[in-house]
Amino acid sequence: MAVRGKFITFEGIDGAGKSSHVEWLADWLRQRGLVVQVTREPGGTPLGEKLRALLLSEPMHLETETLLMFAARREHLAQVIEPALERGEWVVCDRFTDATYAYQGGGRGLHRSKLQVLEQWVHDHRQPDLTLLFDLPFEIARQRIAHATRELDRFEQERAEFHERVRHAYLDRAAANPTRIQVIDADQTMDEIRKLLENIVSTHCL
Ligand code: TYD
Repeated sequence: MAVRGKFITFEGIDGAGKSSHVEWLADWLRQRGLVVQVTREPGGTPLGEKLRALLLSEPMHLETETLLMFAARREHLAQVIEPALERGEWVVCDRFTDATYAYQGGGRGLHRSKLQVLEQWVHDHRQPDLTLLFDLPFEIARQRIAHATRELDRFEQERAEFHERVRHAYLDRAAANPTRIQVIDADQTMDEIRKLLENIVSTHCL
């Protein structure tokens, strides 16, 4: 019988390269006969995508930003994540609540106690089964972002110190949750990273 669906999230600073691996991992799981939903945050629902467009472009108060991230997440859990997991499907999500702790908490300085209240409100018992944290020094990530042909969003435009704080907040969370959060050295070839992902997902989820 197929393994019951797992909730896998991808995290990392902007430019760490995680997004290229999200679809690849979903296909790898599908080749094993599993049903996989690929989704992202902020976003993942029609309302969530509208909130994403605002979040990535409109200047706003830090608490407004945080509340909108969690509002989009509430909708995403209700419409996409929980129903899929209840059907026994897998969910592969590009960013989730660790990103709010890293960006709004670490990057912008919102106190953790406020994030904990929102986390408990929005997804009390639901946590990812596995989080793949793509880690990279910001100097290398910056070069990758610099090559992007599209316009940079509000977060990508932040200064280096912001991204350094985000990176360290992610690493602190990984140190506090060493089983759930697996740190991947993102300064490797695509093939090397894929091999690592295969190993980690096989060990933790299959
Ligand atoms: P990102 O995955 O980087 O999208 P893309 O790869 O298409 O640019 O996500 C968009 C941005 O949203 C990213 O800079 C991090 C930010 N973000 C937060 O600040 N808090 C959150 O809770 C989430 C989910 C994302």
